[in-house]
Amino acid sequence: MSVLARDVAQEFGNRFGRLPKVSRAPGRVNLIGEHTDYNDGFVMPAALEFATLGAAAPRPDRRLVVYSMIMDETREFDLDAPSARGRQEWSDYVFGVAVMLERSGRRLTGADLVIWTDVPLGSGLSSSAALEVSVAHALLTASGLRFEPVEVAKICQQAENDFVGMRCGIMDQYVSACGVAGHALLIDCRSLESRNVPIASNLRLLIANSHVRHQHAGGEYNARREACEEGVRILRPYLGPIKALRDVAARALERHRRVLPELVYRRCRHIVTENERVLEAERALKAGDFAACGKAMNESQVSMRDDFEITCPEIDLLASLAQAQAGVYGSRMTGGGFGGCTVTLIEAGAVQGVTRALIDGYRVGAGRDADVFVCSPSNGAGIDPLEGD
Ligand code: GLA
Repeated sequence: MSVLARDVAQEFGNRFGRLPKVSRAPGRVNLIGEHTDYNDGFVMPAALEFATLGAAAPRPDRRLVVYSMIMDETREFDLDAPSARGRQEWSDYVFGVAVMLERSGRRLTGADLVIWTDVPLGSGLSSSAALEVSVAHALLTASGLRFEPVEVAKICQQAENDFVGMRCGIMDQYVSACGVAGHALLIDCRSLESRNVPIASNLRLLIANSHVRHQHAGGEYNARREACEEGVRILRPYLGPIKALRDVAARALERHRRVLPELVYRRCRHIVTENERVLEAERALKAGDFAACGKAMNESQVSMRDDFEITCPEIDLLASLAQAQAGVYGSRMTGGGFGGCTVTLIEAGAVQGVTRALIDGYRVGAGRDADVFVCSPSNGAGIDPLEGD
């Protein structure tokens, strides 16, 4: 039994006077493969133990009534009179998912919902995907419909693209729906197939939250995506029928470097080399070659900093502090960028010392506090059983 699920169910009981089922969907940390997902490439995230819980029970009508324990706000939505676009607030993630589930041909019943999360918000750990996937799971369960993980991930991505207005890729929703405890997932974002990559028992993933949040991150994200698309458009006449940067090899990019504007070239170089690094990191982790995995992570950090330009001084500081410590294999920013968190691959025995070094070094170098914690790769979305279930 999860204490948290019981608390959320209790809140639901107080508000709506009946017993809900509690759906749970995790946030994620990405070990390597940043901005490659919307280029049809490879990523290697793991689901976190931090998650969003959605307690829900059906209503006899077609209304959705949702209370957020985090915002302490209630919002309502009529499934028979859906709006096409969001109101630019948290409920967009909830109702966007409902709209897209219905558009996919799934007929939902009305439902009462209570949502809660312990995924740190706005920290690059995918609180939005956790919300979307938990709501999808809760609404499908209330409607007596099946939760098909990859299909639901696609629907949640569509909600974020078309209802919320953020042109994200599939990585976050995919791993929130499909994560496997003790493993990272190597996801092929073109075929949408994945392979489990075990995290060896002597390894830990250390996450450090810089607490930097950039206001313009949404616009910068979409701008990176446009630069990648521009690269494909310019390269196509030279390389044949390529669909995405996934189809461009590093050598081919170098050969045609001069046809690209310098900035577009560097954006493309990040994606093309990052795809190679993801596959190398998968190989290395499976072979027990942790140093090679760490090297790929460190190179990814440089590529994000210099070519894709999505890090910031605070993140660069956290990564280099970690890279200098004994017992650390590699360290890099994780997630969309412009702040958020780093992920560090580390020997279990080094956790305490590195945590101290990061907290102290960040206080001295950035003048602020970092949160540092170990992440245990967890399962993707499911029902969080209540006592007696
Ligand atoms: C955000 C997006 C993902 C992915 C990452 C960067 O988390 O939601 O789809 O593009 O940024 O790797």
